[in-house]
Amino acid sequence: MTDPLDSLFSRVLSAKIFANREMMRPDYIPNDLPHREDQILKLAEILAPSLKGSRPSNIFIYGVPGTGKTAVTKYVLKKIEDEGRKIGINLGVAYINCKHDDTNYRVLADLCESVGERIPFTGLSTSEVFRRFVNLVDSSERMIFAVLDEVDALVKKTGDKALYDLTRINQRLSRTRISIVGITNDLKFMEYLDPRVRSSLGEEELVFPPYDASELEDILSRRAAVAFNRNTLEGSVIKLCSALAAKEHGDARRALDLLRISGEIAERNGDTKVTEEHVRMAQREIEKDRVVEVIRTMPLHSKILILSLYLIGKGGSKGGSTGELYDLYCTVAKSMGLEPLTQRRISDLINELDMLGIANAKVVSKGRYGRTKVVSLSISAKNLKESLQDDPRLESLVKK
Ligand SMILES: Nc1ncnc2c1ncn2[C@@H]1O[C@H](COP(=O)(O)OP(=O)(O)O)[C@@H](O)[C@H]1O
Ligand SMILES: [Mg+2]
Repeated sequence: MTDPLDSLFSRVLSAKIFANREMMRPDYIPNDLPHREDQILKLAEILAPSLKGSRPSNIFIYGVPGTGKTAVTKYVLKKIEDEGRKIGINLGVAYINCKHDDTNYRVLADLCESVGERIPFTGLSTSEVFRRFVNLVDSSERMIFAVLDEVDALVKKTGDKALYDLTRINQRLSRTRISIVGITNDLKFMEYLDPRVRSSLGEEELVFPPYDASELEDILSRRAAVAFNRNTLEGSVIKLCSALAAKEHGDARRALDLLRISGEIAERNGDTKVTEEHVRMAQREIEKDRVVEVIRTMPLHSKILILSLYLIGKGGSKGGSTGELYDLYCTVAKSMGLEPLTQRRISDLINELDMLGIANAKVVSKGRYGRTKVVSLSISAKNLKESLQDDPRLESLVKK
């Protein structure tokens, strides 16, 4: 008998779809960023005075996800850094993703680290941390760009005190100068800020509009030209990926993910060309991952509700009334030793599941008995099991 792994390995080794898969990775920054020429130029214009030793204005960048904000910012700053090195100007870039570093302490520690200083402290007050940060950073003459990407995450978690301090920092520095580049996907973010922070952070503003389908097509074609082997993409594949991503508010990340995953599926199957069928499969895979991830991070009672929906559907009927569902939910919750939530709370949770595309709630007429709301599960049993089974509290119930 042949070892199934042998044939898998030989399929993968002989696969000829990708010339350079790494170039399709979401964090790869291409040198070519079509349809962002205006933003690149504007950003470079704002930041260029740093090359002559003066501090550029702080700048605030916003636009929906996948519009190239991170890629363009990193690209332009790298160019400026390179130029600075050439002409002997000390420029440093501190890139911080506030979604991962969402405490003031982490942001300051990371800022220090990125200019080659280490702050060996824990358990200090924020103002003490800040004081030490100022001293460390000011130890030599230099210009620092502090990029605070997804800065809304920091403010939502800890308020805008850290931002306030940072926007004032130049008053306390004598040798170093800092410019802040704030980036956000949350278009309403500015409204949450203290007006003083807002005006200081938004000295300059740059908007990244969503890409349309034909712009996405250009972006994909150019990236595919280096990442894929010649003649491995069926004619309509790039068009389909672009059209699907254009529906997702023009998200270039989604377009790239679709194309990359389609290529991976084709390779796994040992196919020599990526087809529309592979794109459809990729779309389902991405959608599934999204749902599984959303459910995984839900609170326990929402998970119990989803499980109850599944159990109701298992009887062969297409869902159940909200009353039946609530009764079943209570039974399951009690069997786990939990106090059930009120019917009203559950009703809210049902609406939430409906909005997320996990459940489908519709009002049906029951003739002279009036109208009732019938709820059913809109995801497959397989996806549901995958989402719930690694919660140890639900594991045994899901297996039944
Ligand atoms: N104009 C473009 N050309 C090529 N790739 C792009 C372009 N715009 C975005 N991308 C790619 O799309 C993905 C998402 O872009 P990103 O800059 O992370 O978006 P944002 O930060 O606005 O959410 C990244 O992999 C990026 O390299
Ligand atoms: Mg980004």
